[in-house]
Amino acid sequence: MSKEAFGIDIGGSGIKGAPVNLKKGKLADDRLRIPTPQPSVPDAVADTVAQLIGSFDIDEDMPVGVTFPAVIQHGVAKTAANVDDSWIGTDVDALLTERTGHDVFVVNDADAAGIAEMEFGAGAGQKGVVLMTTLGTGVGSALFNDGELVPNTELGHILYKGESYEKYMADSARERSHLSWAEWAERLQGYYELLEFLFTPDLIIVGGGVSKKHEKFLPLLDLEAPIVPAGLRNEAGIIGAAVLARKERKKAKKGKKKD
Ligand code: BGC
Repeated sequence: MSKEAFGIDIGGSGIKGAPVNLKKGKLADDRLRIPTPQPSVPDAVADTVAQLIGSFDIDEDMPVGVTFPAVIQHGVAKTAANVDDSWIGTDVDALLTERTGHDVFVVNDADAAGIAEMEFGAGAGQKGVVLMTTLGTGVGSALFNDGELVPNTELGHILYKGESYEKYMADSARERSHLSWAEWAERLQGYYELLEFLFTPDLIIVGGGVSKKHEKFLPLLDLEAPIVPAGLRNEAGIIGAAVLARKERKKAKKGKKKD
């Protein structure tokens, strides 16, 4: 089987994708970004995804992994964050497979970033419990035990004062409330202390755009587990989605042989 798969990252403002070299954990070509259609309804987004894939000269048989900012259960969107609510209940795998002609496998965006970190980044080779969090507009989470993902943990939505914690400590909250790094770190401290209490992780990985500036806030945190910045930064979603697509395709092929 080829060592490449295609990865796509669907976000509220942009849809980005590239073929991924799965041996190296790197993009195999320049990434293409197309603005997310507005309103970001399933039909329009599916067309954009097909257009994006069509811009690359790739094998018809190449599996495609797609990240989506939602709870994804067996290919179906159960929620929708930063994309149109009409996604809820949509079989995203089926829609994108039909529209692109490729085998498409969809995964929550933070789960995809975590998969990439476990394979090629800050979590590579780490045993035990690893907790990945992405700090952005919202807060995403991915939980692993001995490298196995427990999907859709949604730890940004633990309640704090009656609201999702992410409203209080996402990177967007830091910007919105003009918090200093120290003020923001205080909020993060409370959040990560709670996660430590709940999951006793061996390692915490922090991703999202702001992780580029990790030296401004990670050293201010005092936790039991090591807390480290993500290693793959921007491309983690695309790479993780591609890793997942290849694994899922293998599983599907094995399943068919048994029938
Ligand atoms: C969503 C998650 C997503 C995270 C990061 C949260 O608001 O509920 O599904 O992973 O934002 O985009």
